[in-house]
Amino acid sequence: MNDQAENLRKKMKQNAQIKQAKTVAFVSGKGGVGKSNIAINFSLELAAKGNKVLLLDLDIGMGNVEILLGQQAKKTVVDMLEDKLELHDIVEHGPNGLAFIAGGSALSDFFRMDQRYMDHFSSQLQQAIQCFDHIVLDMGAGATADSMYFILAADACIVITTPEPTAITDAYGMIKHIIHHNGSMPIQVVMNRSTSPKGGHAALERFRLVVQQFLNIDVKPLGIIPNDEAVTQAVIRQQPVVCSKRKSPFSKAIKQTVEKYGFESQPVAEKDADSFIQKMKYFFLKER
Ligand SMILES: Nc1ncnc2c1ncn2[C@@H]1O[C@H](COP(=O)(O)OP(=O)(O)O)[C@@H](O)[C@H]1O
Ligand SMILES: [Mg+2]
Repeated sequence: MNDQAENLRKKMKQNAQIKQAKTVAFVSGKGGVGKSNIAINFSLELAAKGNKVLLLDLDIGMGNVEILLGQQAKKTVVDMLEDKLELHDIVEHGPNGLAFIAGGSALSDFFRMDQRYMDHFSSQLQQAIQCFDHIVLDMGAGATADSMYFILAADACIVITTPEPTAITDAYGMIKHIIHHNGSMPIQVVMNRSTSPKGGHAALERFRLVVQQFLNIDVKPLGIIPNDEAVTQAVIRQQPVVCSKRKSPFSKAIKQTVEKYGFESQPVAEKDADSFIQKMKYFFLKER
């Protein structure tokens, strides 16, 4: 076992009962709207502010967190489940001290196939919840059966969309689906790839009003992220934008988004210590 894993194991023991991570799922209706890039840069910025952050790639089969971070993960979520590994043995460390776990490749419906996978995953996540301040879940697009119980169990969902009508329509469908299963889920929305701040605000406000009118729920506008060439370059160079282009419009917008998130987020109550795990098991069993 390497030193980092040993250190993490020790810290997990020390921190047990002290911390209570807030879990937030980055979701979208349509794919390719910027979930992974935003989840990664958001996590890095949260970590730069002194938070202990775990980024978990749950886009099983299509995960690309490790590629975007420019790091090769030795093990993935899939290895953890198949080989019954402990979470601290597979956690990798990226820039700003960000802890992350790569998604790996597997068939879809991976968790559904085996209750033992779910049990092992739950017990490992329970430890992570006591060790980190924030757990960020980078989900695959849409509402696949496999991803829904993680999304529904999270303390909050951040829905990413772009101003394109197709992305907006699919984001609306995703919110409708989430609310149908968990009516009390706090939902925040990020408008990505805006061509101007004014246009981005207008698109986000229109979306908020439609959701309020037709679904009767209040989604919170969380951020407007500009369309920025720095993102394409960062993806090609495999260097996250907030690390390599700190002054870019994208990095500034991520910073504002993280500030707003921190300002508006409610701490998780101590009595809810295992509510993420309980909810995840509840939604898992309900589906079977
Ligand atoms: N703000 C942005 N500005 C420019 N290009 C972006 C932006 N956000 C995303 N992209 C482009 O969209 C692609 C898909 O983003 P990604 O984060 O992988 O989406 P998802 O995880 O939703 O599938 C990126 O590779 C990048 O080229
Ligand atoms: Mg992605």
